[in-house]
Amino acid sequence: MKITSSLTKPKETQSDAIIAAAYSDEKHNSTIHEIDQLVDGQISKLSESKDFRANSGEILTLFTKNGQRIVVVGLGKKDKCDLGTLQTATNNAIKALVSTPANTVSNYMTSLEFHNTDNATACKIIAIAASHAAYRYEATKNFKKDNIHQIESMDLFIDDKHSTDVSHASAIAEGVKTTRELGNLPPNICNPKYLAKKAKSIAKHYDNCSITVLNHKEMDTLKMNSLMAVARGSRNKPKMIVLKYKGADKSQKPHVIVGKGITFDTGGISLKPGANMDEMKYDMCGAATVFGTFVAVAEMQLPINLIMIVPAVENMPDGDAYRPGDVVTSYSGKTIEVLNTDAEGRMILCDALTYAQEFEPQVLIDLATLTGACVVALGHVASAVMSKETQLPQDILQAGIDIHDRAWQLPLWDDYQKQIDTTFADMQNIGGFAGGSITAGCFLSRFCEGVNWAHIDIAGTAWNSKKEGATGRPVAMMAQYLINECNK
Ligand code: BES
Ligand code: MN
Ligand code: ZN
Repeated sequence: MKITSSLTKPKETQSDAIIAAAYSDEKHNSTIHEIDQLVDGQISKLSESKDFRANSGEILTLFTKNGQRIVVVGLGKKDKCDLGTLQTATNNAIKALVSTPANTVSNYMTSLEFHNTDNATACKIIAIAASHAAYRYEATKNFKKDNIHQIESMDLFIDDKHSTDVSHASAIAEGVKTTRELGNLPPNICNPKYLAKKAKSIAKHYDNCSITVLNHKEMDTLKMNSLMAVARGSRNKPKMIVLKYKGADKSQKPHVIVGKGITFDTGGISLKPGANMDEMKYDMCGAATVFGTFVAVAEMQLPINLIMIVPAVENMPDGDAYRPGDVVTSYSGKTIEVLNTDAEGRMILCDALTYAQEFEPQVLIDLATLTGACVVALGHVASAVMSKETQLPQDILQAGIDIHDRAWQLPLWDDYQKQIDTTFADMQNIGGFAGGSITAGCFLSRFCEGVNWAHIDIAGTAWNSKKEGATGRPVAMMAQYLINECNK
């Protein structure tokens, strides 16, 4: 969806559809009044008769004489209307249009004033939510072409002085879409080789990007044995994808983001149960998130240096697969006793994080669908942030609040570290039932000593139900974090 902005009046817009919003406890402003006139005062009539109360998320669809669709969405009470309300309202408004023949939309929600929110933020939230609602997975479906309608563009009613916010929102929306598409692709298509190809096409698309991909032989030579142990169980050979964006002088140290790219997680020899195993195609959503963040940053041309690192591996059981009891020497030299081959994310991330430090990052962040325990702890609402630093996790949480893609911090206190100590190696790869997300974070922390590092577990936020699929979270939070870094 192309997002533009202008101050075109409702009377003058040629769009196929018009979106407006109303509070349940406030009179219509002049813009809504003008839209009301296009439908002979029906909005005010239906409001007076209480057929339309403008409760939060409520939708009213009308038609003008010229055949334009008018969608009015309720926001509820003004002082209760927060960014979440705006997201839901936008989603409902767009969903009311996605199956109509409307291709172009003018959105007048931003003609309102918002409680506790400036219009620049509101316009970003609305733009990202609209693009999100218009997304449809099509890659592996057959459609009857003439039945397809797509909302191609949305014009936001907002002053030119907010043009940067609009273009940032548009870039973030593009990143979110990239992430969702990668997350939703089936594992027989989206394998390590596919991710490498995708990264190459991104590198080609933007001028100031470059790419290197390590293959399995190179990783073997480098002794990335922990990653290679997981990879051995699959015929789909692993890749280490390194995609660089140069938006600042080379003297500026890069932000490095690492994403777990398990393109399918069977559990390996510690095989997962059959029910819902298909959902483990989403186990590359950490990777998908760093792809999406990268796209957003490249679209925005932010003045930073960014490096994205994706260890792309498939976790399968095979005659040559790694086994519980194995001890492997990681790329860092530290030894790991494998007690469960299903705790494979940390096995590939530890080598990727060690490798990442060779790029001397000023900030190192990894994102991973790392633990089922994270879904238990925070559900599908908040991503989990873990760090030994003070400022970095705060900055990440703040970005999440700014763009309403929120996270919550879990402690990484040393008290938890003993759960991964073992007699037979420097550490074991599982920490038991108690604090499963935290002990996974502890494991990773042992490979990031002295580094300005944070780990984000997105097992609960990266995808929803099978119907919803990949959510594209937390691309918005990550992109906003990097925007905030530029304004520091
Ligand atoms: N990819 C899974 C984590 C996961 C589980 C994400 C469910 C989303 C939903 C990860 O590789 C895994 O299997 N983790 C194990 C760790 C355990 C063996 C210590 C888990 O969470 O059960
Ligand atoms: Mn696993
Ligand atoms: Zn996994």
